[in-house]
Order: sequence, then C-alpha cells, then structure tokens
Amino acid sequence: MRSHYCGGLNKTHIGEEVVLKGWVHRRRDHGGVIFLDVRDRDGVAQVVFDPDREESFNLADSVRNEFVIEVHGLVRGRPEGTINSEMPTGEIEVLGKELVILNKSETPPFQLDEHQQVGEDVRLRHRYIDLRRPEMQEKMRFRSKVTNAIRNFMDDNGFLDIETPILNRATPEGARDYLVPSRTHEGSFFALPQSPQLFKQLLMVSGFDRYYQIAKCFRDEDLRADRQPEFTQIDIETSFMDEEEIMGMTETMIRKLFLDMLDVDLGDFPRMPYSEAMQRYGSDKPDLRFPMELVDVADLMAEIEFKVFAGPAKDPNGRVAALKVPGGAQLTRKIIDEYTKFVGIYGAKGLAWIKVNELEKGVEGLQSPIVKFLGPDVAMAIMERLEAKNGDIIFFGADKEKVVSEALGALRIKVGEDMNMAQCEWAPLWVVDFPMFEETDKGSLTALHHPFTAPSCSAEELKANPLDALSRAYDMVLNGCELGGGSVRIHDQAMQKTVFGVLGISDEEAEEKFGFLLNALKFGAPPHGGLAFGLDRLIMLMTGTDSIREVIAFPKTQSASCMMTEAPGIVSAAQLRELNIKLRKTP
Ligand code: AMO
Ligand code: AMP
Repeated sequence: MRSHYCGGLNKTHIGEEVVLKGWVHRRRDHGGVIFLDVRDRDGVAQVVFDPDREESFNLADSVRNEFVIEVHGLVRGRPEGTINSEMPTGEIEVLGKELVILNKSETPPFQLDEHQQVGEDVRLRHRYIDLRRPEMQEKMRFRSKVTNAIRNFMDDNGFLDIETPILNRATPEGARDYLVPSRTHEGSFFALPQSPQLFKQLLMVSGFDRYYQIAKCFRDEDLRADRQPEFTQIDIETSFMDEEEIMGMTETMIRKLFLDMLDVDLGDFPRMPYSEAMQRYGSDKPDLRFPMELVDVADLMAEIEFKVFAGPAKDPNGRVAALKVPGGAQLTRKIIDEYTKFVGIYGAKGLAWIKVNELEKGVEGLQSPIVKFLGPDVAMAIMERLEAKNGDIIFFGADKEKVVSEALGALRIKVGEDMNMAQCEWAPLWVVDFPMFEETDKGSLTALHHPFTAPSCSAEELKANPLDALSRAYDMVLNGCELGGGSVRIHDQAMQKTVFGVLGISDEEAEEKFGFLLNALKFGAPPHGGLAFGLDRLIMLMTGTDSIREVIAFPKTQSASCMMTEAPGIVSAAQLRELNIKLRKTP
C-alpha cells in the first residue's frame, strides 16, 4: 500500500521514508539525474533518481509517460533556487531509492497537458485517460463532495432516500422517451424515466412525507451544451408544504452548498413572475448578471409606414421591442452583421439598429438604416423611452412575440458577454407564476411544466380561460441557467381530470396511461409538492465550466452516442427475434 498520496507531500514530511504509487506524468533527464513527476489522484510529486543507485536509475531511465510505478524514497527539501512555487508540492522532492514498474503504457493518444490540441472526440474516445487529468479529477472529486453535502442536508432535514424504478411506463415531461422492448410482453415497451415524477408523488400518497433521490433521468431530446440524454436530478418531494416552504427550504440548501463549497454567499433569491421575465429579459430564465433590458415600443410603431415594424406592432400575437446597449455605438458593421446572423438562429428576419452619435442634433445625430422609415417623431420618442445617450446602440426586433423575446433575449446575453457587462459573479432568482399551459403551433394546449402541476385557480376558471391560468410552479435560475424546477401538485382527482381534459387527453386515454395515479388520488392523497435540480448543471456552474459534458465522467456526444463504447450498437438478429422486433431497414 502507498504511505502517502503524491499531492499530499509537503515540508512537514521532510526526512520521512515514503511509498508512492501512481503514474509517470513526465520524465526528464537532467545531465545524469532523472526526474520523474509522479501523479496520482491527489497531485504530482517530483522524484529524483541518482546514478549511484544503478538499478533504480536504469529503470527510471526506461519508464515512459503513463507507466504505473511504485516508488520508495526519502522526502527532502528542494535545494535553493529549484523551489517551484507554482506546484503545491514544489518545496520538496523525493529521493528515489527503489522503483517498481507495476505496468507499462503505450504512448497515450494525447499527452495529458496537451488535451486542448486534440478534439473533444479524441478525449471522449479515451475518456479513461482524459479523466486522469488533474482538472478532471478535481471536477469529479468536487461532484462527489457536492452529492455528499446534499445527502447530509437532506438527511438532517428528515428526507428519506428512496429508489424508484427505471423500467417504467412513460412519464410525460415533454421530451421523447427512450424505449426498452419487453421480451416477456411481446410488442410492449418500457420507457426509461424522464424523471421520477409520478413515483415520488405516489410515495407521498404512501405517507413518506419527505423523499429525495439522486436520480438518473433519460430524455431523447435535441442536445445542447447544458443537456444530456441521460442526466442526474436531485429529486425532492414533500407533503403538507406549500410553495413558499418548498422554495424556502431548497433555497437554503443551495445557499448552504455555495457557502460551504465555494465560500460564496448568494443572499436571498429575488422572485420574478414569468410574465415580467419574458417582458424585461425575453426569457423565462433571465441572466440577471447583465443589466440590459428589453423595452416594448410597439405602441410607437403601430402607425408608421415601415411594415416590418407596423405589422407586428398591430398583431395581438406580435411584439416590437428594443434593446439598448450602452457604449454599443462603437460596434463595427461586421459585428452588427454577426449579431444579425445570431438572432437568425431564433427565427428573427433581421436586426434593425440605431446608433446614437449626437443626440443634441436630434434625428440628424442618429445613424441607422431605419430612421428614414420611422420619421423624426417616432425616432426621438424611442430615444426618450429608452433614455438613450450618446455612444449607445439600440437594436430592434419585430415579429411574433416568441421570436422577438427569444432573439433579443439571447442577443442580450451574447452582447453582455462580448462586452463584459456582467455586474456580479452570481445572479440567482426564482421565476414564479408560470402559465399552466401554452399553445402549440398546431393550436392545441400543452402543460408548461407537467400535467401534474396544480393551478392557482379553481377548476371552473381553468376550464373557462386555460391560457390565462397560472400554476403553482417555480423555477430556480442561476446565471441564466435553469437549475431546478418544481411545483405544488394536484392532489385532487377531479382537478387532475380537469387538467387532462384541458390538455385534450380523453377519459379513456387518461385511464389507460395514468389510471394508477388517478386511483391513488382517490385513496387519501395528501397535499404535496416538490422540485428537482439538475445536478450536472449545478456542478457545471459551480466549477465554472461551460458544458455539462465536462462534469460527467462518461458523457454522451451531441448526437447522443458514447464515443468510447460506441453505444448505441447493433444487436444480433437472434436478440431481435427474441424481442419480436423486425427492423424496417437492416443497417
Ligand atoms: P424539469 O424537467 O424542469 O422538471 O427538470 C428538472 C431539472 O433537471 C435539469 N435537466 C437537465 N439537465 C441535463 N440534461 C437534460 N436533458 C435536462 N433536462 C432537465 C434542469 C431542470 O431544471 N419532474 C420535474 C421536477 C418536479 O416537478 O419536481 C422535472 O423533471 O436543471
Ligand atoms: P430591410 O427593409 O429589409 O432592408 O430592413 C431594414 C432594416 O430592418 C435592416 O437593418 C434589417 O436587419 C432590419 N429588419 C428587417 N426585418 C426585421 C425584423 N423582423 N425585426 C427587426 N429588424 C428587422
């Protein structure tokens, strides 16, 4: 066994005989002396081999990067002038006395400190090597500490960790299901859980009162930097607590986590209604680090000739909004063109702008491709509404409400990042008062959260005006990222049936898909509610990483495959036959 981890050695160990076990991080030959940097999960220590111990010296000379070795040696202070203050173990070195090669290594596909030169695909294909990098080891260690802290918090607050099944019927969370064919029930399929939603509600019906689980969830959706097909939730459900109490408790947990792990005090989280978030920030997860806001200007545009603006200004489903960027008048044409392309991703058909050069000259002091279409009165009214100052640029979006909010909302963050406009490091908030439903492109209604979320109104009001109904849901947002979301649930069977009805789910379909839930609600279901945090996103934010792939040991690629194991893979004809599955096209 080792006596010490490499990274743990320091001046207090000088004079001690130690046994280290680890990997050769680097080997250097310095004029007859061989230096091996030996690495383990705790860090790197320098081991020196002198030629007077011939056997170990020759062995040291023969090792290569990533060989696994065992070293017996003596810790000593480094001579004056060779102290490395960059290295935690830089004040000491180990005089190597005995060396054992435990295993050899071929030349690795990339050197650990040159991972940036290779593509992410190479790193993912050889993830077991990539994970050896101290940075990755630190992230995994951090993740483990966070889950441990969460478990402690949950345990201290009386929560029980209860596992829920992976082979399920579909639980609708809005994404596509991953399906698993059943061999014993020909033609039937399990769905992997998009979340433990219904099971955690049923646990409340069973009287467990406080449940949590660090649960794997599976969603077959389009992937982005903060989404994986298989990810982890910190899943929580409670009975007899209302939204205030649930938000209060989970906010305490996150605040404590940041304080204990990062020494960061997040303070009290502000609350913002969904409608205000959309109006001011064009997003239901506003990044409040950036001060800029969207300002509605439709009322000023309704009567102008310029149809691009007047059309959406008069359309009840349209929006015309402006985004003022202080100091943005210096942006070049090229950058404005890039931003125009950027908003195009969100469906915007253009990005009109006005540069405020010399406001004292009135409309003459404005530089813009659209001022001539607006006319001086409207142009100056816009200046006034936006409190424009010389040196600003104002961007405009005019389209359907969704397009304008998304496009300008995203532009706000992009410009904020490009121009370093963040005013603080951490900006948490709760978004509340979500609508119960939204309209799909086809005109039907879908649940904004999930169909088990309780409305804040009566069943009659819900039926009469479903699009006006608000829910008892809440999202925790941090730096523009949806960290978690939850709600008070429906515990009344009649209300649950009403919501299914509004969603266009017939009684038969509800019975077929959710009969077990509707039944359970008949037998003494307590009022309950909960929330789930995205653990991967939490770790991503806490470690300052920009992709959740960096904080998951074995992540999937953007196209939902594993580069290392090459999953998903083809299965044998025999296996398919056993499952009674016939492929339409054989690969
Ligand atoms: P929701 O769908 O909002 O709620 O998910 C909760 C949190 O899980 C994280 N998350 C993801 N993380 C990585 N990759 C994904 N594909 C992904 N999808 C979601 C987010 C999100 O805030 N059952 C409800 C919770 C509840 O009502 O209690 C649910 O799953 O951080
Ligand atoms: P055009 O008349 O199409 O040349 O457009 C004049 C200006 O309006 C250009 O700067 C376009 O980028 C911008 N523009 C066009 N359509 C829109 C839109 N839907 N929203 C915002 N700006 C637009």
